[in-house]
Amino acid sequence: MLLLNWEVSDACRNILPWDLRKNGVVTGTMRSMRSIVILISGRGSNMEAIFRTAKAEQWPASIAAVVSNRADAEGLKFAISHGITTAVVPNKDYPDREQFDAALRVVIDSFTPDLVVLAGFMRILTTSFVQHYAGRMLNIHPSLLPSFSGMATHRQALAAGVKVHGATVHFVTATLDHGPIVAQAVVPVLDDDTEQSLEQRVLVEEHQIYPRAVRWFVEGRLSIEDGRVRQR
Ligand code: GRF
Repeated sequence: MLLLNWEVSDACRNILPWDLRKNGVVTGTMRSMRSIVILISGRGSNMEAIFRTAKAEQWPASIAAVVSNRADAEGLKFAISHGITTAVVPNKDYPDREQFDAALRVVIDSFTPDLVVLAGFMRILTTSFVQHYAGRMLNIHPSLLPSFSGMATHRQALAAGVKVHGATVHFVTATLDHGPIVAQAVVPVLDDDTEQSLEQRVLVEEHQIYPRAVRWFVEGRLSIEDGRVRQR
């Protein structure tokens, strides 16, 4: 069971086990509109999928900001052109990981997010940063975790000769590409697949499962019990 030993925010309450909430351990009212901050480093196609789906399905949530560690992240153009607030915190301006993460945290928290979404955010995060967003930060990884963590996942899959591959949405913990799994999508690995063809097939699925998982979160339908995500 996830234990929360700090003041419980709306978002944290969101992922508490149902029986705790029911029994009144957590009190207070739930805000109806959820606030999401999305972190990107590059193309931002997952950010775009989340934005478009949220709009089309009229989620009880809004994207408060898109934040990037790179001013040249392609996805920022989409965000700006669609009226989403953007911010850039260049990691190269900070001497170490701790100071960068501290600055990033200040920017993110200025938007008081219920949920932080890592969407191709290419930074290893410090433990204190991850702990600050425990239970309210999601990531998507292009493999069926726990297989093929780290980089070049499609190459890893081809080298291992697996017959299926895919993508995973998970809550972020201090261990890289690790954490309670919210959703997975599976694609076949074809005999003539290249890294690129496999990546494209997986990406199509990413754009399905990431918006779905974010929607479950903002609707308060996720809980974590004994390290496993339950969705109702
Ligand atoms: C995706 O494959 C995602 O799984 C991984 O990085 C890639 C980001 O793509 N974490 P995009 O920036 O969302 O287009």
